[in-house]
Amino acid sequence: MTGPHRHGGDLAGLARTLELPADCHDFSVNTHPFGPHPGAAAAARKALDHMERYPDPAAESLRAAIAAAHGLPEACIVPGNGAAELIDLLPRALGVTRALVVTPAFGEYRDAVARAGGAVIPVARERIDSFPTGAVVAAIARHRPQAVFVCSPNNPTGERLADADFQAVHAACGESTLLVLDEAFVEYSGGSRMDEVTKLPNLVVLRSLTKFFGLAGLRVGYLAAAPPVAGRVAALRPPWTVNGPAAAAGMACLADPDYVDAQRQRVVALRQPFADALSALGLAPLPSDANFLLCRLPEGVSADHLFPALARDGFVVRHCGSFGLGDRYIRLRVHRPEVNAAFIKTLARHLPCS
Ligand SMILES: Cc1ncc(COP(=O)(O)O)c(C=O)c1O
Repeated sequence: MTGPHRHGGDLAGLARTLELPADCHDFSVNTHPFGPHPGAAAAARKALDHMERYPDPAAESLRAAIAAAHGLPEACIVPGNGAAELIDLLPRALGVTRALVVTPAFGEYRDAVARAGGAVIPVARERIDSFPTGAVVAAIARHRPQAVFVCSPNNPTGERLADADFQAVHAACGESTLLVLDEAFVEYSGGSRMDEVTKLPNLVVLRSLTKFFGLAGLRVGYLAAAPPVAGRVAALRPPWTVNGPAAAAGMACLADPDYVDAQRQRVVALRQPFADALSALGLAPLPSDANFLLCRLPEGVSADHLFPALARDGFVVRHCGSFGLGDRYIRLRVHRPEVNAAFIKTLARHLPCS
């Protein structure tokens, strides 16, 4: 791994090597800046009253709630201990030892395929801000991978996959390559393809309740796919991986469809002013459909230096070394307005010409 981060949000891990002030603001994690869904904690607390009971081995009630929320058959849904558990299971469950990953990408795709005894074939973007459709289509034809991992909106670049790009990649996959579409941040962008899993037998959609709904510490995610594919993943999943409070919190989130639009608008309204303030300091944030901004640093400023300096001042950013972006980029979540403003002030003090 290059740089001090493997994942965002690991303040405890960072505190082992860096002196962090007690009241740190975390810009490295891509969870919702306004906290968890308000009904989630109450539901989880109620479930804690029964902590001596085993949860449902396959989280059937949660599965039914997910299926109902998306209008899909229950046989298409597999709940998991976060999307990360399902990413881990996928390659082993579906015999994926050769997979294409468009880089820069979330590192767990590569690690999960490696844990299954395989390797990913990286397809690098020619331009960081555009999806390399032609190169992906050519790489599918050349390598005939068992799976292609695509994320929309993409972590760390933030852009949503255009419909035409999805269609081109899906067509190139044909019948023998699975298209794994990670929608961990889709509540911010809209345009989910969940409802297509009943029509497209090689599409697997991953969702997470840890980001937008703020259940990162409880761990809830799910996968949607045609029943034969979902069934193979479900068969490999150990029992009880979604605990009782997590399932209860997840169901509270899913029962509130109005929450998504309102919270998306709150973040979208903050994103452009934050990007503008960063641009005014000489950073180059990429256009984003998510709740985070990948920012190219000004010439002469390195993430290796900026990261610890900001951390000591109480602002933890995502060093992008582990994404293969060296020390030229940082990724920032869009935070609450007052925290964004405090960050901009501190950042300005650490830049040479501002
Ligand atoms: C793109 C992407 N997919 C999946 C995950 C895993 O999400 P979860 O917390 O649901 O395991 C993350 C977490 O950072 C992510 O960035």
